[in-house]
Amino acid sequence: MRQGARSSVLNGRVSELEQVVRARRSIRLFHADRPVPRADVLAALDLASRAPSNSNTQPWHLVLASGSARERLVAALVEASRHREPAIPPLPAEFERMKYALGEQLYGSMGIERDDADSRRKAQRLNWRFYNAPLAGIVCMHRELHHVDSLGVGMFLQTLLLGLTARGLGTCVQMLIAGFPDVIREALDIPEHYEILCGLAIGHPVEDFPSNNLAIPRKPVDECVVFHDD
Ligand SMILES: Cc1cc2nc3c(=O)[nH]c(=O)nc-3n(C[C@H](O)[C@H](O)[C@H](O)COP(=O)(O)O)c2cc1C
Repeated sequence: MRQGARSSVLNGRVSELEQVVRARRSIRLFHADRPVPRADVLAALDLASRAPSNSNTQPWHLVLASGSARERLVAALVEASRHREPAIPPLPAEFERMKYALGEQLYGSMGIERDDADSRRKAQRLNWRFYNAPLAGIVCMHRELHHVDSLGVGMFLQTLLLGLTARGLGTCVQMLIAGFPDVIREALDIPEHYEILCGLAIGHPVEDFPSNNLAIPRKPVDECVVFHDD
């Protein structure tokens, strides 16, 4: 294909891509009884596998659980969370305030006050149920790979989210889930050589749940990008 022809085809698709990117948001309540079509998941996975990666190592490994495998996983996570806190590394103070702001917006949309610790905990517990999503994912990477390889996993994951969004499905990436790696490993028989990076909820969003319709703000571009022109 000639260069000009190729770029004009790509240009024609930019607005569609942009629409999908802007339509994606983290979904925190799904229809438990609406199954996720396997064909849609396979098509989105096929798209996601086009992600770039260091030396084409394709470092992503995704374990997906539905039906009784998902129930087993959820039961194990719920049980573990009754006895101990998930092992989540603390954020540096500079970033902690962003987590605080997110919490304000998220719990605010659910009508939960800042000092209502009980209601916050209750809302957070939905994490262990993958927010009722019928398809529960565990994102892994080989333990001996490095930071740079997790970039590839991230690119795979974002492309997967977009492919699912374009098919009318909702998603939520969940690091909290990875706070119980031993539990997940046992429930889904995940070998030790895979590091568990995060969970992934996939399903049909409950459209009128207020926190499914939040536009979580972003930093202005000039706060995170520096141009040097001379
Ligand atoms: C690596 C990663 C981990 C996340 N962990 C969680 C989580 O444990 N629970 C949750 O509800 N959302 C989680 N999220 C969703 C973020 O809170 C969300 O992406 C962010 O606030 C921006 O909102 P948006 O996705 O709706 O644009 C996670 C997202 C990423 C990328």
